[in-house]
Amino acid sequence: MVNHYLIANWKMHKLSAEALQFIAGFSSTSLPDNTAVIIAPSFPLLPVMRTAIEGARLPVMLAAQNMFYEEHGAFTGEVSPQQIYDAGAKYVIIGHSERRTLMNEHYNMLSQKLKAALTAELTPIYCLGENLQEREAGHSKEVVSGQVQQLVKDFSSADIRKMIIAYEPIWAIGTGKSATPEEVEEIHALMATMLPPGMPMVYGGSVNAQNAQQFLQQPHISGLLVGSASLDIQEFQRILAIF
Ligand code: PGA
Repeated sequence: MVNHYLIANWKMHKLSAEALQFIAGFSSTSLPDNTAVIIAPSFPLLPVMRTAIEGARLPVMLAAQNMFYEEHGAFTGEVSPQQIYDAGAKYVIIGHSERRTLMNEHYNMLSQKLKAALTAELTPIYCLGENLQEREAGHSKEVVSGQVQQLVKDFSSADIRKMIIAYEPIWAIGTGKSATPEEVEEIHALMATMLPPGMPMVYGGSVNAQNAQQFLQQPHISGLLVGSASLDIQEFQRILAIF
């Protein structure tokens, strides 16, 4: 039974040849039965990687890093949930802090995206977390519980159960400064009191092969969302070996 998640967020990295090389490197790895391994590449790599993964018969799944909330229409430059699904993704990252801050995505839009993802039978990986200012003011718990409350208000438990929650404190993303396992555990334990029982909750923010184990040992952390350390196949395999 899958109860652990290792999610690679490649952000805007890799061309198709590099993605194929990564998948080829994977073929020699044995993947744990209890862990879903999910890679989120850029949109154009999805069909390329789907073909390679199917060819190598790897139990690796694909996620998109974003999507729009409409099914089709005059939305130049956007990609629909159905198009993502058609391209091979079963998951979609929604609300990543880079989209919230750089692309101005706010909760109103994100909730529409969550609804559209569920309609398209994609599993949303919903990212939330506090920023540096909020952390320094000692407000991490209030901020995160506020974000979880919004979700619980707008979605039924049945729908929330179809999601993966990713706690990603913004100050820890791409900075080399991860939260401590105890800090993350405290936030995850708090979220667990608000969410339906047994919800998968992953941590992301400067995770690497050195610190991954400490996070996974915490009772409320069911997986990891890894950015830069997921780009190198050897480093990614070292993280995977810890699961
Ligand atoms: P990072 O990114 O591991 O490079 O900090 C994590 C993320 O953005 O999901």
